[in-house]
Amino acid sequence: MPEDVLEALLREDRAQIGRLADYHVPPDFPGEATGLVRLRRDQLAADPSIGPWLLRAIVRREDRVMVGYVNFHGPPGVNDTMTVGAVELGWTVFPEYRQRGYATETANALMEWAAREFGIRRFVSSTTPENAASLRVHAKLGFVPTGEVVDGEVIFRLDR
Ligand SMILES: CC(C)(COP(=O)(O)OP(=O)(O)OC[C@H]1O[C@@H](n2cnc3c(N)ncnc32)[C@H](O)[C@@H]1OP(=O)(O)O)[C@@H](O)C(=O)NCCC(=O)NCCS
Repeated sequence: MPEDVLEALLREDRAQIGRLADYHVPPDFPGEATGLVRLRRDQLAADPSIGPWLLRAIVRREDRVMVGYVNFHGPPGVNDTMTVGAVELGWTVFPEYRQRGYATETANALMEWAAREFGIRRFVSSTTPENAASLRVHAKLGFVPTGEVVDGEVIFRLDR
């Protein structure tokens, strides 16, 4: 999501969002993701070259509805385990669109993109032990627990 869209989201300027985005943004977004949007906007302003590693809307093909959002934690090397050359993924699907495979499809597509465009082979992700849906997505993608726990989150790794 480019900086002008993030700015419009933070201002809650719905008319401007409608002009800038060629997909439908739910009226309650960013809501609880406002802090994340602000952080990504600040990072993008400081270094526009890292844009592809920051916030993306998950947009459903058939009706151009934003069903969630996804991001890497930053460019290669920026991840919970500070593993050189690895990227960390984080995903959210809005409640009404869950359990349709969207998180799994999105994560797979992003990992393929990172491998194709940047030769990334190692992926990191984390979630809390009680987040059953996220644990299941990790398993479906082939992530394996590393045994590390950072800030109460179980760390997973996937080498593709
Ligand atoms: C985690 C999250 C992104 C999953 O999105 P999604 O689009 O529903 O994921 P998918 O449909 O690709 O897969 C979900 C899987 O979890 C399973 N699942 C969902 N709720 C579950 C539960 N309570 N217990 C066990 N499995 C569960 C689904 O059945 C599905 O598995 P299946 O394909 O084998 O049936 C979504 O629940 C979410 O946004 N949660 C809040 C934010 C979050 O926790 N993000 C992850 C932080 S690491």
